[in-house]
Amino acid sequence: LCCGTSTESPPLQCVLTGRWTNDLGSNMTIGALNGKGEFTGSYHTAVTATTNEIQLSPLQGSQHNTNKKSQPTFGFTVNWSFSDSITVFTGQCFTDKDGKEVLKTMWLLRSRVDNIRSDWKATRIGTNIFTRLNLKE
Ligand code: BTN
Repeated sequence: LCCGTSTESPPLQCVLTGRWTNDLGSNMTIGALNGKGEFTGSYHTAVTATTNEIQLSPLQGSQHNTNKKSQPTFGFTVNWSFSDSITVFTGQCFTDKDGKEVLKTMWLLRSRVDNIRSDWKATRIGTNIFTRLNLKE
């Protein structure tokens, strides 16, 4: 076994606020929660379904159990600033056995299509796993 007992204390709760990166290489920042569990933030996607130039985009969401059970569920919406699309994410914040926080999410990406006949191809679905980015401020 590699490293023996860690001297770092694991987070007791899984906290959404902070910087996160996912399995696609996208990064997001989630701000402080207000008293109702609502938050805003920004999302820098690593990929796009469009040919547009990627730009930082705003997100807003909310989480459950602000001071009750740990490992809260949450959801947020990203209103892409460089396309006509919207993505909604839903997920849960987990703390694994090593105290590492992970966000397990599913998403729906709605693209704009020109007419109702094209509606069938307007929605993509997927999963993303986020881990905390611990870069120096
Ligand atoms: C668009 O292409 O119109 C906007 C960008 C969409 C990026 C998607 S959202 C789901 C998936 N997870 C990411 O981090 N990026 C892609």
